[in-house]
Amino acid sequence: MNHRAWMRSQGFTSEVFDGRPVIGIATTWSELAPCNVHLHRVAESVKRGVWQAGGFPLEFPAMALGETLLRPTAMLYRNLLAMEAEELIRANPLDGVVLLSGCDKTTPGLLMAAASVGLPALMVTGGPMLSGKYQGTDVGSGTAVWRWEEDLLAGRMTQEECAFAEGCMARSNGHCMTMGTASTMASMAEALGMQLPYSASWPAVDARRYETAQRAGQVIVDLVDNDVTPADIMTREAFENAIRVNAAIGGSTNAVVHLLAIAGRLGVPLALDDFDALARDVPTLVNLQPSGKYLMEDFCYAGGLPAVMRELGDLLHRDALTVTRASVGENVKDAPCWNRDVIFPLESPFQPAGSGTAVLRGNLAPDGAVLKQSAATARLLKHRGRALVFDSQEAYYEVAADPELDVDEDTVLVIRYCGPKGYPGMPEVANVPVPAKLLKQGVRDIVRICDGRMSGTAYGTVVLHVAPEAAAGGPLALVRTGDWISLDVPARTLTLQVPDEELAARHAAWTAPPPAASRGWTWLYTQHVGQANTGADLDFLVGASGSAVGRDSH
Ligand code: FES
Repeated sequence: MNHRAWMRSQGFTSEVFDGRPVIGIATTWSELAPCNVHLHRVAESVKRGVWQAGGFPLEFPAMALGETLLRPTAMLYRNLLAMEAEELIRANPLDGVVLLSGCDKTTPGLLMAAASVGLPALMVTGGPMLSGKYQGTDVGSGTAVWRWEEDLLAGRMTQEECAFAEGCMARSNGHCMTMGTASTMASMAEALGMQLPYSASWPAVDARRYETAQRAGQVIVDLVDNDVTPADIMTREAFENAIRVNAAIGGSTNAVVHLLAIAGRLGVPLALDDFDALARDVPTLVNLQPSGKYLMEDFCYAGGLPAVMRELGDLLHRDALTVTRASVGENVKDAPCWNRDVIFPLESPFQPAGSGTAVLRGNLAPDGAVLKQSAATARLLKHRGRALVFDSQEAYYEVAADPELDVDEDTVLVIRYCGPKGYPGMPEVANVPVPAKLLKQGVRDIVRICDGRMSGTAYGTVVLHVAPEAAAGGPLALVRTGDWISLDVPARTLTLQVPDEELAARHAAWTAPPPAASRGWTWLYTQHVGQANTGADLDFLVGASGSAVGRDSH
């Protein structure tokens, strides 16, 4: 009576307590997270579907992580969202949960939470914005900003033009409409089988987004009735599918760190090298920015992710289970493609096999680093140059416009202390702009190396996620300006050409930077965060605890 009486303060009739499934709708809505600001409305559609199917929907907030405003980086809080949502899902009397996400970290954070609880769960991402339009051309969120920033530095664009362009990019509700991290992670959720077919690509303002959300409300009740849990869907085969789909869509390198973290919650064996091995024979089929030309709205009209997954054929585990309770193969077997300039056929792809994420190793990255080949400059994939080293992004920005900066087109720019512990939170700072001096000479790309991440909307020959990071004493901390570095992507190596004895001497003289915080979440995070090559989860959050309250059920 106690529980029911308080719930009836919301005006529910007594029938809702007749034993029907209680479905939580975890929404990451917030006005501070513009990409997720419409999720309230999406939740209303989900509720319709839950009621239709005989469930009892209850919406609740989970931490909204907006990529554009949060300092120092939204990634610092991905694990906090995962921890908060996990506890909310477990502590409340829910039978299943629908996860509403949008901006980059909200999708992996909620999937990590659902994986650790193990109740039936289904994701509905909020969808991309409509295409940006500026001076008669399409402009992609993020991708255009990097270009305009360089154009401004190089004097090709005025401040006034930039201010006008700013208002032309984000034209509607929704997340970034390039194949950035949000679109990538929405696609990963669909490829994993955790959201309904086409969910990743309906624009945020398209009626079919809301139709799909209503359908999702029906489906979660079906998953509860049949006790289908995230562990039944997110199997090793599902992760292999997701990795291959990520290669085919030219997806963000951030998918690497997020998929590793989600797999870690489920106990699915997945390693950094799997991303290279599984992607090598997958061509890029999708011609979307930042690797290509089009935007998510075009991708939707061309057939969306089901068209890509159908095209991949036997490269995917077609019998993998999805939230529809049908297999991947059944879901996509008749998926049409309406535009072959957006989604290319497997036989004549947009970019050849092996142009996806490469995993590099060597004395500069003993535990690995990644590079997105499709966003890099081909001639730089085999490169040797002298290092120009900065201990922070800010230190680089202080001199980036200096016309006397000692750089040339062969320089290898090293930006370090930007890893999970170092920054802290492993921000998206690796794709710093090319120095103004070189931009004015017409150089658009140089090799950059960083222990941080790169925005999924960015491009360039950028070595990312170097592990161990500099702040953890990784060899990146030992590089000095003027050292020779060689990058050989075909051979998958990254080498600091300094003798071992010299590196040992430098290591002996190295001291760790002071901790970033002495209390609170940042302290907890820096004490427990893992390295990028294992997903940068907190050590005590890896794994699952089940849905029972007050004890570990596993
Ligand atoms: Fe939210 Fe790009 S800023 S998805």
